[in-house]
Amino acid sequence: MTRPYLLAATDTEPAKRFYDVIVIGSGIAGLTAAVGAARKWKVALISKSVLRDTTTFLAQGGIAAALSEQDSPQLHFEDTIRAGAGLCKEEAVSILVNEGPARVRELTEICPKFDRAGGDLVLGAEGAHSVPRIAHAGGDATGSEVASALAQAMESGSRVQVLENEFVVDLLTNGGRCIGAVSLNLQTGTFTLNFATATVLATGGSGQVYSLTTNPRVATGDGMAMAYRAGATIGDMEFVQFHPTGLYADQSPIFLITEALRGEGAYLLNHLGERFMMGVHPQAELGPRDIVVKEMVRQMNEEGQEFLFLDATHLDCAMLRERFPTVYETLREKGYDLCNDRIPIAPVCHYMAGGVVTDIWGRSTLPGLYASGEVACTGVHGANRLASNSLLEGLVFSDRIVRDLDKYIGSMEEEVRRLQIDLPGPARQGNKHEDVAEGLRRLQKTMITNVGTVRNEQGLITALKELHALHNSLKSPGADPDEYELYNLLTVAIHIVKAALLRQESRGAHLREDFPEIDDAGWKHHINFRLQNEEGKKE
Ligand code: SIN
Repeated sequence: MTRPYLLAATDTEPAKRFYDVIVIGSGIAGLTAAVGAARKWKVALISKSVLRDTTTFLAQGGIAAALSEQDSPQLHFEDTIRAGAGLCKEEAVSILVNEGPARVRELTEICPKFDRAGGDLVLGAEGAHSVPRIAHAGGDATGSEVASALAQAMESGSRVQVLENEFVVDLLTNGGRCIGAVSLNLQTGTFTLNFATATVLATGGSGQVYSLTTNPRVATGDGMAMAYRAGATIGDMEFVQFHPTGLYADQSPIFLITEALRGEGAYLLNHLGERFMMGVHPQAELGPRDIVVKEMVRQMNEEGQEFLFLDATHLDCAMLRERFPTVYETLREKGYDLCNDRIPIAPVCHYMAGGVVTDIWGRSTLPGLYASGEVACTGVHGANRLASNSLLEGLVFSDRIVRDLDKYIGSMEEEVRRLQIDLPGPARQGNKHEDVAEGLRRLQKTMITNVGTVRNEQGLITALKELHALHNSLKSPGADPDEYELYNLLTVAIHIVKAALLRQESRGAHLREDFPEIDDAGWKHHINFRLQNEEGKKE
């Protein structure tokens, strides 16, 4: 069988480049992998945009790790497992929490902006953590501080070739092995075959499947979709995490108001001014995200409202301004005063717990292909990610990938430059720009209407039909990144819906109103998809 590509055949022979390792994506996972791999190997880091245009850059809360005397990896393990609602892979979680503290300490050495008091890191509280353990930088600017420090380390100290504005369209395979990726230069319009012994996907998430998301415009699920087309297994796709406190009625990407605010004591209120999480969970506003979101949906339905409130007006204003400069300023620009106003908020799509299934070394099921960060499904998040475990996952598993590369590359005898690749046949048709834009609107509306915080069979069937109809209405893609993104989003969305239909229970971030209970006997399993198994398999 000829494997599916998005790539259109080109009239001219594509250029070729050769590397030991290519890293696709420039968030914390990609930068960590590139900096580490370049100590030994010839590395390129490819970004479809500019380096800073990532979800990492927007991250506010921080990085969770057992860094204080009152904390331990065991406690962090237990919190992660509890939040994950029975589906975390324990070995992966154990690695995350045990290797995490050392990785975060290394990061603080290159990123001087981590917040400290008397020399010690200041640790914040967030939902479902039993102790304060969130290291943060620049108050609520952790992502941008960390990403800038890593980018600087990459640019100054290593030999990574950085390729910005280069859209990776497809992975290259030979004999069931990944041997690089083909990219489209967005400035010149030319394709390049980037051959590499090992390829690291660090392309982030897929929040753009929804019209309401905190994710940047670039989060279009490219890595998940291209890995799937190349034959890798993807899994846990139904577990799309909604964050409780997106700013209501904001323009997409929706401004996120960090959970760390609730960690400092902010309340969630309904329209009667009641703290509705009291009595719902022992940690009230700091319960796990899935439980908070579920109760928010219930409250909004009961009150017939589309939003609730985040209230920090009882907290010290000077503290709020110093600890949350990004949130304070951004809200001010949008017409709200964090110190004096109740802020309207609603749940918003924030994070994909599923993705490219990997083992504990970040290896996907396709030899030569690794995945790290949000694109990956290492199993550490289970059905619901613990707050601020995501940056940590990227750090820890990219470090493990770097260590594994030495073994993998060393074991490869055949040079990739000698291998044949099986590229697609005749040139494709291409879609009109307005049809692609309309297709994106249709997809996002279908998903938010039918596959949002609460799902049911009827809505999921409607969504699946609509997504297939949209797919069938499109011509095969030409050489346009918007078309590639739409196709990638369709692949991700269809698998979210298929998995959500199969999982006839409510667990973690997946809520079915027609199956409201958790069903361990039937569903304490992962749902995986691969090309040979498009309808999904319990594993
Ligand atoms: C936040 O700051 O609330 C987001 C942190 C996360 O997504 O874990």
